[in-house]
Amino acid sequence: MSENLTIAVIGAGGKMGMRVSDNLAKSAHDVRYVETSPAGQQRTIDAGREVTDLSDAIKDADVVILAVPDIALQPVTAQVVPQLAAGTVVLTLDPAAAYANLLYPSDDVHYAVAHPCHPSIFLRRTTEEEYADTFGGIAAPQDVLAAYESGDETKRAQTEAVIRAMYAPVVDVHWITVKQLAQCEPTLVETIACMIGDFLKESLHEAVHTLGIPEPAARSILLGHTQVALANALQGDNPFSDACLIAMDYGRSKIVKDDWKVIFRDDELDKNLQAMLHLREPISR
Ligand SMILES: NC(=O)c1ccc[n+]([C@@H]2O[C@H](COP(=O)([O-])OP(=O)(O)OC[C@H]3O[C@@H](n4cnc5c(N)ncnc54)[C@H](O)[C@@H]3O)[C@@H](O)[C@H]2O)c1
Repeated sequence: MSENLTIAVIGAGGKMGMRVSDNLAKSAHDVRYVETSPAGQQRTIDAGREVTDLSDAIKDADVVILAVPDIALQPVTAQVVPQLAAGTVVLTLDPAAAYANLLYPSDDVHYAVAHPCHPSIFLRRTTEEEYADTFGGIAAPQDVLAAYESGDETKRAQTEAVIRAMYAPVVDVHWITVKQLAQCEPTLVETIACMIGDFLKESLHEAVHTLGIPEPAARSILLGHTQVALANALQGDNPFSDACLIAMDYGRSKIVKDDWKVIFRDDELDKNLQAMLHLREPISR
């Protein structure tokens, strides 16, 4: 789609606000940048962008991107959404607040969520810039998971155009439900994948500081084997050896709780989100 859209980025000086603004500024869209904190305003100005008042920025906006912290989305949507014209797309960057029913209820706007997948560990990278871009949005192509439950297909197409511009370079945008997005993030990727990344770091620390293995040796064998473990398990590149399978079973029995799959239950997801969003009350369904 080559339509030029009017886009407001709220929280433009934050971590994601800066990333999406860097990309949107290169697009042909009319982009306005809103930021309340002095440090965020300075970052916006230092990047060569102008800070705009909220009311001016959202005037005639096709898409309003809320790049504010998840715990701020309830008050920010309560402030912003009643001021928007009917038909505006309100795009959040994480499903937590949407799935926890914290977004200001409105039949007039179209809520959407778009979360970057980050570039795959198996991406075929060919340039230095692609190798350096582990987060995505700079040089390494990534997919995006997005949710849009409004049904207006013209608005969905506009939303996808904005998603592709702000997280560029993007390969695929996978449209799923808000609930599925929340089951992916946090459960699949923060509760599991990020936890395992941190667990590997702690294991490396033990190897070096408790066992006394020289750090370069321990790091080297851990990083190489991490790639083999993921390539074998997730891509089927090679079978694990028979002895390795026995060691893996030993690790699973010592480290993983038998009932670990409770994390995929709806009530456990709600508990996780309640903690992440600092909610005093349980999420009401
Ligand atoms: N940080 C990440 O790696 C990452 C990755 C994917 C998605 N996200 C999502 O992106 C969103 C933003 O997260 P972040 O990490 O960039 O947060 P952040 O704290 O780095 O930035 C938030 C910015 O919003 C500004 N802000 C707060 N209230 C505002 C308001 N009312 N008006 C204008 N500006 C306001 C803050 O001053 C700050 O500059 C969240 O939904 C988060 O879940 C973050």
